[in-house]
Amino acid sequence: MTAEAGLPDTLRDLPVWTPGPVELADMELILAGVYRPLTGFLGSFDTAMVIAGGRLADGTPWPVPVTLSVPKELTEHERIVLQDPEGVPLAVLRVAEVWQDPTSQAWRLAGPLEALRAPAHGPFHSLRRRPDELTPHDGDVPAESPEEGRPPTSPGNVLAVAPRGFLHRKQLGQLRQVAERLGAEVLVLPMLSGEHDECLVRALLGVRRELPDGARIIPVPLPARGDTGVSDDRDVLLHAHIAAAYGATHLLADREIEGTEIPVVVPEPWAYDADVEVWRPVARIEPDHVQAELTPERLGELLDAGEPVPDWFTPPAVAAELALARPPKLSRGITVFFTGLSGSGKSTVARGLADALIERGGRTVTLLDGDVVRRMLSAGLTFSRADRDLNIRRIGFVAAEITRHGGTAICAPIAPYAATRAEVRRMVSAVGDFILVHVATPLEECERRDRKGLYAKARAGLIPEFTGISDPYEEPEDADLTLDTSRLAPDEAVGEVLDLLVEGGWVRPA
Ligand code: ADX
Repeated sequence: MTAEAGLPDTLRDLPVWTPGPVELADMELILAGVYRPLTGFLGSFDTAMVIAGGRLADGTPWPVPVTLSVPKELTEHERIVLQDPEGVPLAVLRVAEVWQDPTSQAWRLAGPLEALRAPAHGPFHSLRRRPDELTPHDGDVPAESPEEGRPPTSPGNVLAVAPRGFLHRKQLGQLRQVAERLGAEVLVLPMLSGEHDECLVRALLGVRRELPDGARIIPVPLPARGDTGVSDDRDVLLHAHIAAAYGATHLLADREIEGTEIPVVVPEPWAYDADVEVWRPVARIEPDHVQAELTPERLGELLDAGEPVPDWFTPPAVAAELALARPPKLSRGITVFFTGLSGSGKSTVARGLADALIERGGRTVTLLDGDVVRRMLSAGLTFSRADRDLNIRRIGFVAAEITRHGGTAICAPIAPYAATRAEVRRMVSAVGDFILVHVATPLEECERRDRKGLYAKARAGLIPEFTGISDPYEEPEDADLTLDTSRLAPDEAVGEVLDLLVEGGWVRPA
């Protein structure tokens, strides 16, 4: 693993690492100056102080741990090149400390970062700006000649909002109201999380006319951090810091938190006035004219059913992007993942399901059978744990791509390890739906059938690491459906899966 093309000679021999999505986003924000005064990833002492008290070791307030995990092999170097997922080197980390996280035991590197080139991955890159590239009124148009190193100069108030989700008529109205009250310019900083970012940004561009005049839209990469040992309030602190770095004087948010770098403004409650058919502050609506809010659950149901999202709730441009981010179930991508012992009947049921779906029409189907994958995608892999995991990850990768494009992936490997199955569930669920079917035919029955004669060979010691005989199978605890083919005929088993798909709304009733 060494960097090749495009690196200065002096860096060619350095080890290379691709950080995870949160770490890459952090790196981009550090290098852009958004995370000032941070100049690199935090060490053990700073991290402990941040988690415990929201301050760096020197007392500077800092809300969230900004750390970099690496495999142990990469802990023995003075410098390391960090690259994006496509292998483009982005920065050099000068290692100041190697430390091990006391909770996760992960190895971490701390130290200052030096930019090699500006990151260029991700959609709507042309809208991104470093704070020092901002001119007071550059809108979405790239600044002609940004004056290097100068913070944005703005004479008055700048109200920032850092949405992770869509802005509907209510939020748009509240934003206009607060901006007007403060006499503020508006800065919309959509937080890119890696999931449906393009829908979020397109929706904002689509409602430009509903945003206050001259509002700027600058996407900021900031995937949700997961469990970092700090409270959710720290997110608001971080958003306030980011907003301040972009020159904002106020942050619009749904709750006030102590100690934000700039004041947080919480809008007054708004509702839809069914009498005059506009959104406005609840205080100005006759109580019996207040229309009940469309709950997130109800919105989800409408989208799942492919029904229109009402115009009183959100502008059509937002509704269109919502439907792309969460397509109707009948046309949403899905992976049906069968797991079970060799000879349990996975392939038979999977093949039967594929045929039944193809016969019904309305869905495109790809069958990724265990044995077939082993001849194609995974030719050459063994049955060691590492190779089985790699095999399942490859299947998961392909299934997730099929799912992303609205197709149906039917997978039927043994997939003996729960952690690897969970990884596939995560990959697929980010882009569509995932169903785990445990084909729980007992080992005795699989061995009695022994269609391929493999159990006999395994018992005779001719096949090592044979699942169920000399290698583990971790029974799923998260199966959406369990089938025992010693009690069910193949078409009955297929029928059970089809019923589940129909009940769940993915397939039209016959
Ligand atoms: S997995 O563990 O990586 O999910 P996969 O489904 O691809 O396994 O392959 C399993 C098939 O490979 C079995 O149906 C069987 O035909 C064959 N096979 C050969 N050696 C083994 C083994 N040691 N353990 C399990 N299956 C094996």
